[in-house]
Parts: sequence; structure tokens; C-alpha cells
Amino acid sequence: MRPLPQLALLLTLAPLALAQPARPLVVAHRGASGYLPEHTLAAKAYGHALGADFLEQDIVLTKDDVPVVLHDLYLDAVTDVARRFPGRARPDGRYYALDFTLAEIRQLEVRERVNLKNGEAQYPARYPAAVAPTGLRIPTLEEELTLIQALNRSSGRVAGIYPEIKAPRWHRDQGRDPSRVVLPVLARFGYADKTAPCFLQCFEWEEVRRLRGELGWKGRLVQLIGGAGQDGAGTDYGWLVSEAGLQAVAAVADGIGPAIGRVVTWPAAGSPAQVTDLVARARALGLAVHPYTIRRDDLPRHCPDLPALQAALFGAARVDGAFTDFPDLTLAYLRR
Ligand code: G3P
Ligand code: CA
Repeated sequence: MRPLPQLALLLTLAPLALAQPARPLVVAHRGASGYLPEHTLAAKAYGHALGADFLEQDIVLTKDDVPVVLHDLYLDAVTDVARRFPGRARPDGRYYALDFTLAEIRQLEVRERVNLKNGEAQYPARYPAAVAPTGLRIPTLEEELTLIQALNRSSGRVAGIYPEIKAPRWHRDQGRDPSRVVLPVLARFGYADKTAPCFLQCFEWEEVRRLRGELGWKGRLVQLIGGAGQDGAGTDYGWLVSEAGLQAVAAVADGIGPAIGRVVTWPAAGSPAQVTDLVARARALGLAVHPYTIRRDDLPRHCPDLPALQAALFGAARVDGAFTDFPDLTLAYLRR
């Protein structure tokens, strides 16, 4: 598929490039993943219809170097790969997207995420994991961007994109380079500068610096920051949230995407929310703050309910945007 013609593309992007909403941005996390299997085109179309400002893409590579929209390095938690391709797992028992060609991946059916330890749905109240056939597939990045830009035109409302380079260090250990593959695609679709409705994101600090430096990315860039105790694949998240770390991030990036627990916590059941100083320190350095992930069915520890979470993030911490599995509920809160 080809991107929209240049003039149409400019007209399509113009409204958001000129005026972003005055309220915080709502990023549909893996699409409207609270309602449809994550990262399917159906979930992205629904997120668009629900009014999300941005639609997220996690990106990994196939065996033939095609960027596809998939959260895990593995295919097994969200597809029927084990049934269709028995014997193709690595010694660790996992089915890696990198070991399958696009033609093979196109044969897989996407379903709601399951917990591989017990085979049960990760989020039992969501789209039923047992539904089959779903008719849903893993999209390529190109297919997804084509859909979003077509929807922007047909709906008259521009939703931006929020692509994440997944596990670049791991890919490079395998002899692959997802950033070098993805950047030309983003450029071809018109997202390569800061006027475009796009935030490129990555968890790995080394790769964020490389994107801005060696790879010459001129668009908006966000450093993701995992929660306390999370493994950062060589990235020290504790250092990133220090004053020196934030200053270093501010020199190359436009924002940070911290785990919610780095912004607000509930120390005990019944206790009020406690807001950290991260948002204030980041914004003082000119960094936007977009925490992840609002889920009504997976709240932070001791957080009483979704209204309390959204009030803490938007009302108390005053973040600039947030990733949410339920863009309609987050928009409803912000539009009150
Ligand atoms: O990229 C923001 C958020 O999506 C990070 O968490 O694991 O869902 O990619 P993850
Ligand atoms: Ca992500």
C-alpha cells in the first residue's frame, strides 16, 4: 500500500499540526485495547472512533525485516502460532516474530492476550479470549499508518501516531536494526518532523540518543521510563529520573513516558494519592510527561478506582497526556 498523495497528506495533517487540544493528550494504548484485541487494525479503528488523540504502535521486525505492530517479541500470547507452526519455538519455548516471515505471520489469527502460564485471559472482562475465528491479523506498520491516515481523511479528525521501537538492543544482538527500518517508513508517511502528529518512543536510553544523533530523527521523541525495580535492558531508570538524568534526556528528547508509579502512588489502602515531584521537575526542563498505562481493570496498588486514578494523574499531577486502554473513559473524564 502507498501513503496518501502529498497534498492530501498535508491537508490531513494540518489541523492537528496547527492546534492540539488544550486538555491533556489521550493516547490509545495498543489501540482501544480495553475493548478489542491489542494492536489489531480493529482496535486502532475503534480507538480513532472513540476520539483518541494518538494511537500507539509497538514495533518489532519479522524474519524478512518488515516492521509489524506487535507488543511482544513473541507471537504466542496473542496469536494461534503454536497451533499453526508447531516446532517453531526457540529452546526457551517461545515463538519469536523475528523467526517468521511476513507471509507466515499473515497466516496467524490474533486473539485477546492470554497468560501462557495458565492459558487464561490476561484481562477476563475484556474481549473474550476464546472467540474464534476472530479474523484479526497482525498488521504491518505500513498497513496501520495507511489505515490511520485514511480514517483521518474520512472522519475529518486527525489522530496522531505514537510508535515505539521495541527492544532495539535485543534486535541488534540478533543482527537486526529496527530503528533503521522504521524511520524511513515514518518519513514516507509524513511524520519526520516536529510539526507532524507523532511521538517516537523507546525504553532504551542508548537508542533514544542514537535516534536523535546517529540516525538523525528530527521528529518528537519520548524517553520511556520503567517502574522502580524494572529491568531496563541496560538503561538505568533510577538515573533517568534523577536531576542529571532528566537534564540529559531534555537535551535530546521532547518528553518522558514514565510508569504511573513514578508519578503517583497510594501508600496504603484508604490513603490519599501521593504525587511525586517528577512531573514538576520534567516540565521545568521543558519535557512533556505522558505516563502509562490507565487500565480500569488493572489499577495501581491501593488505588481505589478509575476516577481516583484519573483525578490523581490529571488533576493533582497535571500530566500532559497519558496512555490508556480505555480512551473513551479517559476522554470522558477530561471533558467533564
Ligand atoms: O509505550 C508506553 C507503554 O506502552 C509502555 O508499556 O509495555 O505497553 O509498551 P508497554
Ligand atoms: Ca508501548
